[in-house]
Amino acid sequence: MHNPVSRMSFWWRPLMLALAIGLAARVLAIGMPAGRGWMLFAAGLAIYLTYHLYQLARLSNWLDGTERPVLSGDGIWGDVLYRLEKLLRARQGEQQKTAADLEQMLEATRSLPDGVVILDTGNRIVWFNEAAERLLGLSPRRDFGQFILYLLRNSRFGEWLQAEDLARTLTLDSPSAQGHTLSLQIVPLPRQQKMLVARDITELARVETMRRDFVANVSHELRTPITVILGFLEAFEDMPESDPREFRKHIPLMREQSDRIRRLVDDLLTLAKLESEPDTRDETVDMVALATRLADEAETLSQGRHQISLALDSRARLIGNGQELYSALANLVINAVRYTPDGGRVGIRWAMTESGAAGFSVTDSGEGIEAQHIPRLTERFYRVDRGRSRASGGTGLGLAIVKHVLQRHQARLRIESTVGKGSTFCAQFPAERVIPETTATIDQV
Ligand SMILES: Nc1ncnc2c1ncn2[C@@H]1O[C@H](COP(=O)(O)OP(=O)(O)OP(=O)(O)O)[C@@H](O)[C@H]1O
Ligand SMILES: [Mg+2]
Repeated sequence: MHNPVSRMSFWWRPLMLALAIGLAARVLAIGMPAGRGWMLFAAGLAIYLTYHLYQLARLSNWLDGTERPVLSGDGIWGDVLYRLEKLLRARQGEQQKTAADLEQMLEATRSLPDGVVILDTGNRIVWFNEAAERLLGLSPRRDFGQFILYLLRNSRFGEWLQAEDLARTLTLDSPSAQGHTLSLQIVPLPRQQKMLVARDITELARVETMRRDFVANVSHELRTPITVILGFLEAFEDMPESDPREFRKHIPLMREQSDRIRRLVDDLLTLAKLESEPDTRDETVDMVALATRLADEAETLSQGRHQISLALDSRARLIGNGQELYSALANLVINAVRYTPDGGRVGIRWAMTESGAAGFSVTDSGEGIEAQHIPRLTERFYRVDRGRSRASGGTGLGLAIVKHVLQRHQARLRIESTVGKGSTFCAQFPAERVIPETTATIDQV
């Protein structure tokens, strides 16, 4: 290990060496003719100087990079070279670390879900990541060095980019990913470059639209019954002397409307509860008893207007939440009675498949549903015939609740319908939730 010399000895040592050479020359010159001594001294100094010039030349080559590996030397050169090498190694270490950090940063940015485009002062593309390819339709083979305004030809984008208002984001439809909405933002970078960040906000925009629709729908649904009740109350207020019998005449309608508000609020609370509790509290549900109870209730609701049948093809039980399953499956039965004209048939069936799955289905001979409505039936407040559903007391939330409850049981709703013939709504439960009739009783799961 080389010990660096102190600053003092850095100068001191070569001076001493030079003096020593001079002294040696003087001693050697004793007894020689005059002038020889000086010649010897000059020759010594010349050798000494040549050595240093030689080392300087090597150092210069070394600094140019033509001489490798690392130089070594004695004395002052050893010290200088040691320091230089140490400095160089530290610098190389720093450079390697910076390069590794940069590579890591680029790697992270490359796989970011947001699109990132680095632009120079003239808005030419310097670099972009994979998400930018997908969201902005950029191509790594074609678009480096191109003006971004030539590639994203949209007047709103052009105005926004040139305004360089960092506080303002721009919402834009993706030019390449169809149906996707982007939120664009500019972030300033050193050397007057800037970073364009494109975030896919499709899901956010969809949720926001859903939220707005939902609030509008709830308000709309509540307004009608409240208006009816308020109308009556105002009329009675204006007629203080009116006959109480006159007042009584309107009570059924006011009661019906109040009932409607209560049902709507109940359904909204049920939905909110289903959403806030991620898991069901499971128990063993006796599906035979449940189906029988639902068939009885269908009879009560129908009051002899329909032919109700019950087919219990299996005695299998289900692992799930009895209360939730009851309210979901009751909705399928109530719908079948409600949307089937008098004289029609409603069939309730509980059956297992060979794979061990099981299905609860309700088939009716009602008017049927056109194919375009089927995928939307489980949306909140979606009704094929709004007036008809309202008239029969529907809130339009029933199938949304069914969908939620089934999802919580890893089950799905299959809907088949033919206009003019009728529909089948089937809740299909996976084998893991079905206890076949042969298995011993499990009371609590
Ligand atoms: N068996 C069926 N036959 C024909 N149309 C149906 C049937 N079941 C549901 N629909 C249609 O689907 C729509 C949505 O049903 P959903 O159960 O969600 O709401 P609802 O019955 O109108 O109100 P709620 O169930 O909240 O009281 C109904 O309005 C109706 O148009
Ligand atoms: Mg319903």
